[in-house]
Amino acid sequence: MKKIVVLLVVGLAFTSCKKNVSVYEVVSDNSKDETMASSHPGKTLMETQCYICHSPSAPEMEGRIGPPMVAIKAHYIGEQTTKEEFSKDLWDFLNNPTKDKAKLRGAVDRFGVMPYQPYKKEDIDKIAEYLFDYEIEEPEWFEEHFKKHHEGEGEGRGKHGKGYRNQGKKVSSNHPRGPENIGLMYAVETKKVLGKNLMGTIQKEGTVEAMKFCNEKAYPLTDSMANHFDAKIKRVSDKPRNPSNKASADELEKIEFFKNAVANNQDIKPIVERFRGEKNFYYPILTNSMCLQCHGKSSDIKPDVLASITSLYPDDVAMGYDVNQVRGIWSISFKKHK
Ligand code: HEC
Ligand code: HEC
Repeated sequence: MKKIVVLLVVGLAFTSCKKNVSVYEVVSDNSKDETMASSHPGKTLMETQCYICHSPSAPEMEGRIGPPMVAIKAHYIGEQTTKEEFSKDLWDFLNNPTKDKAKLRGAVDRFGVMPYQPYKKEDIDKIAEYLFDYEIEEPEWFEEHFKKHHEGEGEGRGKHGKGYRNQGKKVSSNHPRGPENIGLMYAVETKKVLGKNLMGTIQKEGTVEAMKFCNEKAYPLTDSMANHFDAKIKRVSDKPRNPSNKASADELEKIEFFKNAVANNQDIKPIVERFRGEKNFYYPILTNSMCLQCHGKSSDIKPDVLASITSLYPDDVAMGYDVNQVRGIWSISFKKHK
């Protein structure tokens, strides 16, 4: 309990005094204004890959599954730290997170060591640059941001259909109004809700309880997010645990596409197809080391967890995974962003 308080105090202390700490200041000559910050590639990467666990918008003690980025910054960047040193330190940790290397001792005790997932060095460098050069946004960044920017969104960027074959050229990747980003926001927000509850349950009650939690709550939680966004939100897989999550022929095609992209180390970008005013959005769900407790090889799964899987899902085929594999995809459809 004491450790939790310490961590929180560090976080708060840092938040409240950051205006006076020159290292973190955004330079005030307008060369790095809001617009530049919001189009920095590191920002999007951080919001989609790290905020699931390091979100600034989970103030309640209960809801946190990792320390806020602002606390990480405070531990990694001192008066003397250069951008290069920070970038290197960040990579050293993420490339192989261990308890020994961790600087946030309180966070390790409270949350466990960060689950390993193979990130690309170039992505982490961009995130490091963004973190170093800019102040990090405070709560409610994503949803508020999108609500503000999507009023009166127009239709019709790009052609119908198989946009993903040559995407990247056609779709301006960081355009906040595009259906790519709206879909991504729905996926990331839903993933946050599911992930927060999953990790929270594992941390507090263990993996078997978390199995039960997924069994009972994965659907209701996904549905409540779908209601909230007025969209259809599904998680589907070629190797489903719950038979209701079996991918359709069309979705299987997307899964194959993303598997190839991951195998060839390509940038992962959403697929968007338009059909009669509806947008169908697809984005891969990748595994990290935490997932393997329930989706890994049978030797990775504890006997009591395995027993729970077999009894709840007699037809389960969602095992045998390693890290950074396509466990499934988000399949989301929506008309207009409200
Ligand atoms: C699945 C949840 C999860 C995701 C996703 C995640 N982290 Fe973490 N991270 C954690 C947890 C939990 C901790 C606290 C324990 C620790 O320090 O290892 C942590 C700690 C850290 C630390 C501090 C390590 C230390 O020295 O103690 C850094 C740096 C970090 N994360 C960076 C990142 C970055 C950058 C990303 C995105 C590319 C990211 N994390 C994505 C869960 C996550
Ligand atoms: C505590 C055990 C547990 C952990 C850890 C876990 N899952 Fe699952 N997962 C489940 C259960 C149980 C279901 C079935 C949920 C249902 O019945 O709706 C499931 C379903 C899924 C589905 C939907 C498709 C299907 O197979 O039914 C995806 C996608 C998925 N998990 C991805 C992941 C990823 C990615 C991670 C790691 C970030 C992860 N899971 C971690 C237990 C777990």
